[in-house]
Amino acid sequence: MIDKKNDNFLMSFGKMPIANNFLHENDFSKEFFYEMKVGFNEEYSLFKLLEHPKPEQMFNSKYPFLTSSSNYMIQHFNNFYKFINKNYLHSINEKIIEIGCNDGTMLNFFENKSSCLGFEPSTNVAKIAEKKNLNIIPKFFSYDYPEAKKFLNDTKIIYAANVICHIPDLNSLIISIDKFLNKKGLFIFEEPYLGSMINKNSYDQIYDEHVYIFSISSIKKIFKKYNFDLIDVFPQSTHGGSMRYVIGREGEYEIEKNVEFYESKEIKDNINNFDGMLNFKKQCSSSKDKIIEQLETFKKNGKTISGYAATSKSTTVLNYCNIGTNLINCIYDTTPDKIGKFSPGMHIPIKDYKEFNNQYPDIVYLFAWNHKEEIFSKEKNFIRNGGQWFSHVKI
Ligand code: SAH
Ligand code: TMP
Repeated sequence: MIDKKNDNFLMSFGKMPIANNFLHENDFSKEFFYEMKVGFNEEYSLFKLLEHPKPEQMFNSKYPFLTSSSNYMIQHFNNFYKFINKNYLHSINEKIIEIGCNDGTMLNFFENKSSCLGFEPSTNVAKIAEKKNLNIIPKFFSYDYPEAKKFLNDTKIIYAANVICHIPDLNSLIISIDKFLNKKGLFIFEEPYLGSMINKNSYDQIYDEHVYIFSISSIKKIFKKYNFDLIDVFPQSTHGGSMRYVIGREGEYEIEKNVEFYESKEIKDNINNFDGMLNFKKQCSSSKDKIIEQLETFKKNGKTISGYAATSKSTTVLNYCNIGTNLINCIYDTTPDKIGKFSPGMHIPIKDYKEFNNQYPDIVYLFAWNHKEEIFSKEKNFIRNGGQWFSHVKI
């Protein structure tokens, strides 16, 4: 049983709203806040939120994120599909489950739809996946649904991307995985990586949905508790640095050299223990001071500043650094559901990205720094017109 016994408090990012709760002005007074405290569990080398909202508060009929909103990510999931197909599948009839399939972007690449099943509790996005004729259970992942019966003990691959760190109850998660997988079954998932977060000081990876920021050290220990082996790992460039983990039943597969290679790097970099995290804590507070000072200097020099991409990550930066409309006049974004609303907590107006080139600001805070290639190539004219991109992460 993975428990909280050895959780150590690391730091607080202060009062935080729900990261994706973009809202109208008449809902400001009802806005929900919690204290975003983070800690480190010494027993599992696990970086985690110590307090977080209930999953139902975020994953419901109004979840605003669509996988298909980024062309780069569609391509990435096509490659992820090919990776699974080439390395781990022997027949199109082997059963496959995706946890958190969102709008069905990746599940739709698999050839035999009848052997695939997606779990997706955010019903608005689950409906989009269902329209693609995919087999979807519009609920939180669990083995305990009659609709999932034929997948029990008979699933070859369970996969997920950017979902497992959203699931607070790791015990129930692994019990369900155990019930679904057959003897040679594999659980393959990729998540934002602790090593990348520490390296880049991208503390904005921390928000309500990301209950955990995993590492090789933590995943190995967590799954060992349930008789699973971490058999391979593959670093990914997505979401500012992620890690793909491959898990098999204990003793069923050889453990690839990559596991030891990257694990020893974590030990050398001191990211597998609480003391190693104290430096990260210092970096967060100096990044905050620096960002505020730079934005205030731009303002004093008469520059206009806007934001680009109303990401969930921006909620952490804006609220932690207390940046509001005094510094950033608006944020441009592509998501229809966010446009015309205000950012959570700091209430910066969200505008349609199509209006960005009407009158360029002098400085633009790039909140989607992890999508910089896609955005820089789309917005070349901003630089040509003398504009300057800005971020707390090196871009
Ligand atoms: N895999 C996609 C979506 C990531 S967003 C991608 O990388 O683009 C996370 C998704 O996981 C959301 O659609 C959310 O509704 C879903 N989710 C959250 N908790 C879940 C759970 N316990 N079981 C299944 N899906 C979950
Ligand atoms: P996320 O980091 O919380 O997933 O949010 C990504 C946000 O970035 C989403 O609201 C869409 C926005 N976005 C743009 O506005 N333009 C872009 O080119 C890309 C890739 C994302």
